[in-house]
Amino acid sequence: MGQRRAAITALGTHVPERVMTNADFEKIVDTSDEWIRTRTGIQRRHVVEPGTPTSAIATLAAEDALRRRGIGAEELDLIVVATVTPDMPFPATAGLVQDRLGARRAWGFDVSAACSGFVYALTVGAQFIETGRHRKVMVLGADVMTSILDYKDRSTCVLFGDGAGAVILEPREDGTGILDFSHEVDGSGACYLNMPGGGSLRPASHETVDQRLHYIKQQGAHVFKYAVRKFADASQQILLRNDFTGTDLDLFVAHQANIRIIEAAQHRMGLPDAKVVKNIHEYGNTTAATIPLALKTALDEKRLAKGDLVLLAAVGAGFTVGSVLLRWSGVSWD
Ligand code: ACO
Repeated sequence: MGQRRAAITALGTHVPERVMTNADFEKIVDTSDEWIRTRTGIQRRHVVEPGTPTSAIATLAAEDALRRRGIGAEELDLIVVATVTPDMPFPATAGLVQDRLGARRAWGFDVSAACSGFVYALTVGAQFIETGRHRKVMVLGADVMTSILDYKDRSTCVLFGDGAGAVILEPREDGTGILDFSHEVDGSGACYLNMPGGGSLRPASHETVDQRLHYIKQQGAHVFKYAVRKFADASQQILLRNDFTGTDLDLFVAHQANIRIIEAAQHRMGLPDAKVVKNIHEYGNTTAATIPLALKTALDEKRLAKGDLVLLAAVGAGFTVGSVLLRWSGVSWD
């Protein structure tokens, strides 16, 4: 028997039907379809009906994953939700999802790591499988970014969309599953991308609302430079320490923040288009949901087969950085 590894055995996703195109943004801020497309690669993003919480779209993604795996929610041992848009500061969205699903045996908690949230949560969930303490862990990345977007700030509101993705982790001893992970955090980057209001530092008040502090604030150019450097560094390092190069990789699944960030990493690793998933044109940056949504795109396009070497990579607010290297285990996909 081989080494026990945590493997993704199911994927489920949910994106809202409602769409906002670049043309829609031309009507509300001083921007253009041409600027958004050429600077970010985004053409559309899916957005929830106002008032829809993260737990609702996360639950739909979770149900999709359970259905595809053919198991009931009561089989789950643990639910980890990565999000920066929890339904409320507490309790955790994982508990709300647990209740909505009826996953009565599961415990759960949230992970806050912004755009790296899904890869952080995947690594956390994988530990419980590898130690043998749990047999079925659900990891979700879900964000309702529209709940924290300032539609008067053209430099941020055009970038994000809403979405959710869920995977089920189970033990496998056939050489597939998670091979390695690498994570970093650099809190000195907190000032470049954050939501300043509503926490213990600046509790909600008339002033914080008047100052629009309950929305995303970003110094885009600084985040851009950091992301370009770190995406490529993190991706190359994890390959190198596992004695792989870009040539060995079957699929690079990057966090979808900006097409230029993804392509910079792609070129540094020398990867052809066929090995890189890009769907930012359709969804924008859905924060914790981008990587499961990118896995869905790869499966829809039949670009993932059992045994494939796959690299997941993300950079996000914090700053947070994460990469996870795995051999794809195969999931039921119709
Ligand atoms: N439409 C038109 N003009 C705009 C818009 C817009 N929507 N937004 C900004 N501009 C203007 C700016 O006001 C600025 O004008 P100025 O020169 O007159 O001041 C000009 O465009 C250039 O702004 P920059 O910020 O320098 O443009 P840049 O080429 O850096 O692109 C962008 C901006 C797309 C935000 C880029 O910096 C970026 O993608 N950064 C990374 C941000 C990101 O993805 N964050 C998400 C979370 S973190 C992560 O996922 C990695």
